[in-house]
Amino acid sequence: MDQALFGGEKTGELVPTIEDMLAFVPNDLPPKLDLNCLIQEFGEASAALGGLKEISSTITNPYMVIRPLQRNEALRSSAMEGTFSTADNLAIVEAYDSPTATEADREVLNYIRAIDFAEEQIRELPISHRVIRGMHAVLLRNAGKTRGSNKRPGEYKIHQNWIGALKIKNARFIPPPPKEASDCLDKLESFINRGETTYPALIEAGLTHYQFETIHPFGDGNGRVGRMLITLQLMTSGLLDKPILYVSPFIEIHKDEYIDSMFEVSTSGNWERWLRFFLRAVTESCKQTSATIVRLNDLQSDFRARIQNNTKSVSALTISDHLFERPVISISEAAKVSVTSYQSAKKNIEQLVRLGILREIIGFENPKLFWAKDVIDVSDGVQR
Ligand SMILES: Nc1ncnc2c1ncn2[C@@H]1O[C@H](COP(=O)(O)OP(=O)(O)OP(=O)(O)O)[C@@H](O)[C@H]1O
Ligand SMILES: [Mg+2]
Repeated sequence: MDQALFGGEKTGELVPTIEDMLAFVPNDLPPKLDLNCLIQEFGEASAALGGLKEISSTITNPYMVIRPLQRNEALRSSAMEGTFSTADNLAIVEAYDSPTATEADREVLNYIRAIDFAEEQIRELPISHRVIRGMHAVLLRNAGKTRGSNKRPGEYKIHQNWIGALKIKNARFIPPPPKEASDCLDKLESFINRGETTYPALIEAGLTHYQFETIHPFGDGNGRVGRMLITLQLMTSGLLDKPILYVSPFIEIHKDEYIDSMFEVSTSGNWERWLRFFLRAVTESCKQTSATIVRLNDLQSDFRARIQNNTKSVSALTISDHLFERPVISISEAAKVSVTSYQSAKKNIEQLVRLGILREIIGFENPKLFWAKDVIDVSDGVQR
C-alpha cells in the first residue's frame, strides 16, 4: 500500500501490521459532509427509487421478477471477483443439482440463497453481526477445498488480509488487522441500527458500503456480502419494499471507478466522488431494473396469450408463470407446481414445447430438463 497517497485528509489511521506494513483503520461513521454538491444526483436516485417502488407495487407475484433480477446480480457480483458461471448454467443448477455443475456454479447459486436468507432474517432482526455472518456462511457453504480452504464460512478474519496483489507488500489497500476490524464492525453495526439518521438513508447506505468494504471483515467474500448489504439496507430503511434493486451489474461495468473512488475516500477524504458514483449506480440500476420488469411482464403476457389461444389448460398457465421464477423445469417439478399427475404434466410440457415457450435441454436424460430460454435471456440482459 503506497503510504505516500495517504495525506492529511485521509479518513482513518495507519497502524502497524504484519511484515512491517501499515494497515488502514477507518474513522467511525458518519463523517462531516456537505451534500449540496450532490443535490442533483441525490434527486435523480431518489426519483428512480420511487419509480421502481411504484412499478414493483403492481406486480402480482413479486418472485416472478425478484428471481430473474437476483440471478443476474449473483452472476455479475460473483464475476467481479473471478467466480464465473453463466445464466444458462445457473438456471440449470438452480433447478437440478447437476453432476456437471462446477464449484463456481454452486457458489453463484449460494449468492441467491444468501440474499434469501438475509431477506428473511431482516424481517425480524436488525442488520447485525448475526445476519452478516449468516449470509457469509450461506454464500460460502460447501465451498470446495480448492476454492474454499481459507474461506471460513460465517467466520470473521483471523489473519491480516489485503486487496489487489498476491503479496502484502504489493497490496493496493490493506484493511484493518482482525482486532481493529472487529471493533470497526461493532461500530458499523451500531451506526446502521442507531435509530436515527444524520443524512438521508440512501446516502447512509453509500457510507455503509464504503465502510464495510474498507473494514474487509472476512477472509473472502467481502465484495459480495457488501453488495448484498446495499439492497438489504435500502429495505430496512423503507426505500425498497421488495428485494428488487441490485447494483452489481452496473458496478461490474464501472469497476475501476468503483474501486478507485472508495480508495480515494480513504486516502484523501473524497466522499463526494464515491457518493456521486454510488448514487449514479442506484439511478442507473433502477432504470435497468424497471426496464427488465417491463420486459418480463411483456413476456409473461406473450406466453399467456400463446397458451390461451391454443389450449384451455389452466395447468399449462400455472407452469408457464412458474418459469419466471425457475426457467428450467423437469416433468415431475411441473407436476408438483401445477398439482397434477406426471402424465398430465408431461402433456403440458409437450404443449409448451410446441408453443415455443419451452425447449428440451440437450444432454439431460434422467430427468429430462426443459428451459424457457427467453426468460433466462431477459434476466441476463439479452435483448430478444
Ligand atoms: N481500496 C478499497 N477500499 C475499500 N474497498 C475496496 C477497495 N478496493 C476494492 N474494494 C472492495 O473489495 C472488493 C475486492 O476485494 P477482495 O478481492 O479482497 O474481495 P473478497 O473478500 O475476495 O470478496 P469476494 O470474494 O466477494 O470478492 C471489491 O469488490 C470492492 O468491493
Ligand atoms: Mg474473493
